[in-house]
Amino acid sequence: MRILEFFSGNSERAGYKFSPIIERGKLKLDSNENLFLSKKTLTSFISKVSREVDCRLYPDDDIGEVTTLIGRNLGVDRLQIVMGGGGDQLIELLTASLLREGEEIRSIDPTFGMYREVAAQRRLRYKAIRLGIGFSLPIDELLRDAEEGSMLVVCNPNNPTGNSFSKRSLLRLVEEYPGFVLIDEAYVDYGGESLTENTCNYDNLVVLRTFSKAYGLAGLRVGYIVSNKRLAEVIGTKHQSPFPCSRISLGTAKMMLKNQSAVNYTIDVARTERKWMLSQLSALEGVTTFSSDSNFILFDVGRDAVTVKQKLGELGVSVRFVGSVTGYDNCLRATVAPRKMGEFFLKALREVIE
Ligand SMILES: Cc1ncc(COP(=O)(O)O)c(C=O)c1O
Repeated sequence: MRILEFFSGNSERAGYKFSPIIERGKLKLDSNENLFLSKKTLTSFISKVSREVDCRLYPDDDIGEVTTLIGRNLGVDRLQIVMGGGGDQLIELLTASLLREGEEIRSIDPTFGMYREVAAQRRLRYKAIRLGIGFSLPIDELLRDAEEGSMLVVCNPNNPTGNSFSKRSLLRLVEEYPGFVLIDEAYVDYGGESLTENTCNYDNLVVLRTFSKAYGLAGLRVGYIVSNKRLAEVIGTKHQSPFPCSRISLGTAKMMLKNQSAVNYTIDVARTERKWMLSQLSALEGVTTFSSDSNFILFDVGRDAVTVKQKLGELGVSVRFVGSVTGYDNCLRATVAPRKMGEFFLKALREVIE
């Protein structure tokens, strides 16, 4: 069945809460966006913000208002927070401000591809160390021969494996690593332990967060970093541009923070659906699933993953090709979706592999 046909009549008005994200005729399960936030709710938030703010003016006080709310939520001083135009922009900012040409980004393999790309763009060395059995953190290897002029990056939870690492092991890395340690917490609202409250105790710890995932604002481009105050001041005033986010983006981020219960609702439902999707996927013959602390699931299809991805595309579902992950050669990644979309995806997958 064609995707638009499948979802026709399921408008939010008809009691179907979540309108599917369909791009180029395909159900979009490839970028870990928040599919549980109703588009209608978000649109009403953005309209309200656009009526309230005067976009002829630069966003002067807006950043202070957002960092105050974030600081309150996380239990950190607002001066420890630097806002940015999404996680990607902040990754560029951090590498530009903390590393010099020829220095190293060290990370785990596999992980979020942006780190490798930024290293190449900035002429930094990139060293990736394979995750251990059960996607465990290879602590000793990460620490081996590490240099002061380098940055260790760990995504927690990790993309694309979906698992999180213990706070104890991450703090050990922060304490023993001679350079900066960046903990990328893009998905931490879905599981795992945050290190934001520890940032004030370390000179070398930076935590990255984004409004693109649990807060559902991928299209508005808002993110932030948390570090100790001194480091935040240097990065924020000497390296970040004066107005990295628009008034609409900051106003909507503020709105989401003030409606935290709506955000929490989407997180709760995503967790329930993650469990359901995992159980459905693992019941498929030849498919191996991996538990997830994120809003996506990594799974090995047990046959050529390129072909499976392509055939899923022909049936109207877009998932992410991952390939080889420590011992599993045919991995794909799919965003956890509301039940109706999950059913459409699973139906297509069954058709492809059975
Ligand atoms: C681990 C991780 N970090 C950061 C990002 C960047 O997110 P954004 O630039 O939308 O804030 C992503 C996006 O998928 C991600 O998976």
